[in-house]
Amino acid sequence: MFITFEGIEGSGKTTQIKRLAKALKERGIPCLVTREPGATKIGLQIRAILLDRKNNKMDPLAELFLYLADRCQHMREKISPALAQGRWVISDRFWDATVVYQGLTRGLNLKFLNQLRPKILGSVWPDKTFLLDLPVSIGLGRAWERINNSEASRKESRFEKEAEAFHQKIRLGYLNLSLKEPNRIVVIDATHSPDQIHKKILKNLFD
Ligand code: TMP
Repeated sequence: MFITFEGIEGSGKTTQIKRLAKALKERGIPCLVTREPGATKIGLQIRAILLDRKNNKMDPLAELFLYLADRCQHMREKISPALAQGRWVISDRFWDATVVYQGLTRGLNLKFLNQLRPKILGSVWPDKTFLLDLPVSIGLGRAWERINNSEASRKESRFEKEAEAFHQKIRLGYLNLSLKEPNRIVVIDATHSPDQIHKKILKNLFD
């Protein structure tokens, strides 16, 4: 089972992933919790380039290829082996993030992206994606609170620094994607309490 979490900045993915991993452990289900970018040693170096707030002149194609490079390494070192062992994989962001951030929002060619997909993912595709949806003002408010309280987060704030219109596009992009694959992408109202959201996720997976 391959589960991914998506959403705008500050949508609460990390909290929900932790809770889901705990719930799976309690059920005796072996799982790998991972994230993009930066789940491998090489990926961490790529992440530092991608999210560095000082890198404000990054070419959109360069950005795309760095995310894809991170993903190739992630597939090879983490995701494919875990799935082959029959473990559940929970990833904080995956392919949809590239479609929405680099494709729909930066305006890169989606056909080109789709052509690359089988080369990078083979036949791997998420079984379930939880899209934590909330208004941009709330998400960004939370994200900036985190950034203001942590030097590490401040360094990684290249995307949070984008204008509000950019984040609106991301939110709408994700919602549009969910209409195309409604069985896989489950939209969850992320303004609800962490408890309520967690229960909805469990219900979706186990009921
Ligand atoms: P996060 O760890 O806070 O989710 O930060 C990752 C950032 O990278 C986030 O702003 C979304 C962005 N991103 C892309 O633009 N494309 C991608 O393919 C992925 C995985 C993330």
